[in-house]
Amino acid sequence: MTRLPLRTRRSLLDLDDLAAEEFQEIFARTTAFERGKIEKRLEDVACVNLFFEPSTRTFTSFNLAELRLGADVVNLTPRDLSYMTKGETIEDTMLTLAAMGVGVVVVRHPEDGFPAKMAMQFDGHVINAGDGTHAHPTQALLDLYTMLEEFHSLRGRTVVVVGDVLHSRVAHSLIVGLRRLDAQTVLVGPEAFVPIEYGRDGVRVERDLDATLPSADAVLLLRIQRERFTSVPISDEEYIARYRLDASRLGRLRESAIVMHPGPYNRGIELEESVLRFRGWRYSRQVMHGVGVRMAVLDLLVTGT
Ligand code: CP
Repeated sequence: MTRLPLRTRRSLLDLDDLAAEEFQEIFARTTAFERGKIEKRLEDVACVNLFFEPSTRTFTSFNLAELRLGADVVNLTPRDLSYMTKGETIEDTMLTLAAMGVGVVVVRHPEDGFPAKMAMQFDGHVINAGDGTHAHPTQALLDLYTMLEEFHSLRGRTVVVVGDVLHSRVAHSLIVGLRRLDAQTVLVGPEAFVPIEYGRDGVRVERDLDATLPSADAVLLLRIQRERFTSVPISDEEYIARYRLDASRLGRLRESAIVMHPGPYNRGIELEESVLRFRGWRYSRQVMHGVGVRMAVLDLLVTGT
């Protein structure tokens, strides 16, 4: 497949079609922005944030990123939309926003592929802020950036992703990014959350967390996405016994290993409180990088320079 440079694309829907050098371009911009090299590069650009699902991290950090770049920012909630209550189609909504001069729509939606559908109808940039179980590209970028801050390169590094991979859009985008950056990905969880079919080049499926921890450079914990299925296929007791990261399991990690979580995390289920005090716990770094990474993505998409 011929990869187009990011700057000629209109939207960021997933990481699939970013080449390795495009990741590096985003990361370099993130670093520059975080070091204070901020110009009002989105002055006169109107950004609409449209979240059909709750969000703390992604919503706030996109807002901050847009404001820091000097954009005009409009936050729409679903109840504000004529699309939801008055029979307007999403196509007509997008046409309407474009006619007002809106240049960027950041969207989160429970349906897989909804941002792609919007992008088809929009003369502007759509950024996927999480769609169903499909993808969450900016979260994956900030997770990768956090790992790179630690290890400089991910080539040959082992990243262990633990838990409900099947329903996690974060994991799905992260797997794409880790493969692209030549990391070794190990997915750990019960069959119901990590089907064997996930195994492929550069991605291994394991069931035994204790056995995988000693080789991990980074461990990324996932929340059980209870809102995405009706009956949980494993009891909390069994999950905790087999997969919760606790003090004893932290003791199996290398001195240099880091532990991450995209948030929101559930204390007592996927992690024990002691993890929050662990020397390698990097959750706050992830959240912090979320602003810079989203500034970088906005800047590249909109200005391309
Ligand atoms: N990680 C993440 O997407 O968090 P929010 O749902 O709070 O945006």
